[in-house]
Order: sequence, then C-alpha cells, then structure tokens
Amino acid sequence: MVTKWSYKLLTGNEMIDKQHKEIFDRAAQMLNSGRSGKTKEEAASLVSYLEGYYDRHFAAEEALQKKHGYPDYQIHKDMHDRFSRGLTELKLKYAVVGASYGLAIETVLFMLEWLAGHIDKMDKAFASYIRDNQPVAQKPVSKSVRT
Ligand SMILES: [Fe+2]
Ligand SMILES: [Fe+2]
Repeated sequence: MVTKWSYKLLTGNEMIDKQHKEIFDRAAQMLNSGRSGKTKEEAASLVSYLEGYYDRHFAAEEALQKKHGYPDYQIHKDMHDRFSRGLTELKLKYAVVGASYGLAIETVLFMLEWLAGHIDKMDKAFASYIRDNQPVAQKPVSKSVRT
C-alpha cells in the first residue's frame, strides 16, 4: 500500500506534482504521528481537508486538460467523479456505523491508495500529453498604424 509520496509518483508537471505531494505530506503528518493523543475529530478533520483538496486538485487537472485539448479528458474526469462518489458512499457507510479514529484513518488510506494508482495510470499519461502538446503560441497581430 502506497502511503508516502516518492519520486515514483512524479508526473513531470510541476503544479500537479506539488498538489500530489501536498496530499501525501498532509496525510503523513497524521498517519506518522501515531494514535496517541489523536481524537476522532482530528482524524475526521483530516478526511474533510483531503476531500476538499481532492476536489480542487481534480478541478485544476480538468481545467489544464481542457486548455490543452486532452483527448481523454472525459475518461479522466469520469474517474475523478467515480472516486468522489465512492468517497461519499464510504462516508455515508461510516456515518451509519459511527465515526471513529480507525475508520477515518481507513478512509485516508483508501484515498491515498486510490490516488497513487490513479497518478500512475492516468495523471502521468496526461502530464506527458501536455508536455508534448503545448498550445501553439498566438502570433502577435501586426497592426499597421496610419498617421
Ligand atoms: Fe492527480
Ligand atoms: Fe487525475
């Protein structure tokens, strides 16, 4: 199970890599600090922080893909959406059995595991497409100025 960021997760796109690393670093702070003294509220707040961060990260990737006319945009977006729905279902399930530190940590691990796989299969592919297909710079419009 991948719970730590490593160079194997690099996509080569600076903005995207920075965001991926932020997710893993935040989660690591919680996971490595151990259970002692941590409350279920703290663990739950990490889940909500990550959830919001994932949303913003997905939006940033999708905007970048649109800007560059990425041909697999829809497939990629569907994967993001499916993950978000899965997370909502998981949280609903947890709400039924009762929130706990353990369940919050399990959710974080699930989020990281999914992200690592997604980076490897999907994000690396789109980052490399963007590298190879930079938008053509617009030619400056030449203006003839009459005096
Ligand atoms: Fe990503
Ligand atoms: Fe993605």
